[in-house]
Amino acid sequence: MTRKILLLPGDGIGPEISLQASRLLAACQESGLDIDVEEALVGGAAYDAHLEPLPPETLQKAKAADAILLGAVGGPKWDTLEDLSKRPEKGLLGLRKHLGLFGNLRPAILYPQLVEASSLKPELVSGLDIMIVRELTGGIYFGQPRGIEIRDGERVGFNTYVYSESEIERIGRVAFEMARKRGKKLCSVDKANVLEVTMLWREVMTRLAQEYLDVELTHMYVDNAAMQLVRAPKQFDVIVTGNMFGDILSDAAAMLTGSIGMLPSASLNESGQGMYEPCHGSAPDIAGKNVANPLAMMLSVAMMLRYSLSEPALAERIEAAVGQVLDDGLRTADIASDGMQAVSTQAMGDAVLAAFAQG
Ligand code: NAD
Ligand code: IPM
Ligand code: MN
Repeated sequence: MTRKILLLPGDGIGPEISLQASRLLAACQESGLDIDVEEALVGGAAYDAHLEPLPPETLQKAKAADAILLGAVGGPKWDTLEDLSKRPEKGLLGLRKHLGLFGNLRPAILYPQLVEASSLKPELVSGLDIMIVRELTGGIYFGQPRGIEIRDGERVGFNTYVYSESEIERIGRVAFEMARKRGKKLCSVDKANVLEVTMLWREVMTRLAQEYLDVELTHMYVDNAAMQLVRAPKQFDVIVTGNMFGDILSDAAAMLTGSIGMLPSASLNESGQGMYEPCHGSAPDIAGKNVANPLAMMLSVAMMLRYSLSEPALAERIEAAVGQVLDDGLRTADIASDGMQAVSTQAMGDAVLAAFAQG
């Protein structure tokens, strides 16, 4: 059966890296993968065309797709839009919410070839392989009430940090199952010393642990977790945390792997449908220059093959191709160590495709 893939290039470097992903999809088709790839607008690009960051047509195509690939959204051009509901980021958040993509997997894996590109010393990071499981459709990102209003003669801004037991349990199960398949260690990150919402989080995780006796559950406050990630990151196997803490910790973890341009992600719902995107943003500072690292995007294609299309062999072929080009010394500017010649986005894409074709 033909599977439907929706490609949403988005803004900034989004279209540049999406081009490399779509070439990779075409190569997968040549290898026998039966997919139909369609493109649609999201984010600032959709706002410019339709005055909506998530046009109904895009949402409808997303709902009908087996999997979605997204480049990145946002940029300074739209940062001053007064109506918050029109901001590009709302397009992305809307997709996550409408499709129920609560389970966000962010693997921080250090390719051995990139040890020198990591911001930490080789002995601290070599062999690093962490999976961050981030709750993606709740928490302070979506809690009500929210807004800016006048109180006592001045403006106040407010958001609500809320999680229900069922939301916590749902993401907890994803994380325990993940830990069970990996190193059997799960660290739940919260702020239970201060915030009631995360006291409940900790309580639910502790209760769930009774069903996963083969997994060792530990708890850590988020401030300590940030410190531990840059002190001794290899102590972690799987981390589970809420929406905002997961956003912040995954960017920190990205640098351990050499660059945020190396981190792919999967966002899954209860029926196994997924959206796949790099963890980084639209990188306005380098957009349009053909220098962005396309590997996080290309590795997101691999995650899509593994988690939504049940094609683990093709996923491994992509990951092996990435390893091969790194072995061959190809580096975009963000991962080039001293004295290494940096290649363009397109040249990196070419090299991965060539290695994939041989794989
Ligand atoms: P960013 O991730 O876009 O950029 C941070 C830094 O990392 C920049 O110096 C950038 O050049 C670099 N970088 C990011 N991706 C790279 C890549 N593939 N190759 C090389 N270098 C790369 O974060 P930001 O600057 O905070 O945000 C810029 C815009 O992106 C904002 O509008 C923000 O809302 C949006 N954003 C979108 C997403 C998403 O679509 N998933 C994620 C994060 C930020
Ligand atoms: C990410 C991004 C998004 C988030 C923004 C752009 C809404 O930072 O995917 O990590 O905060 O989730
Ligand atoms: Mn982020």
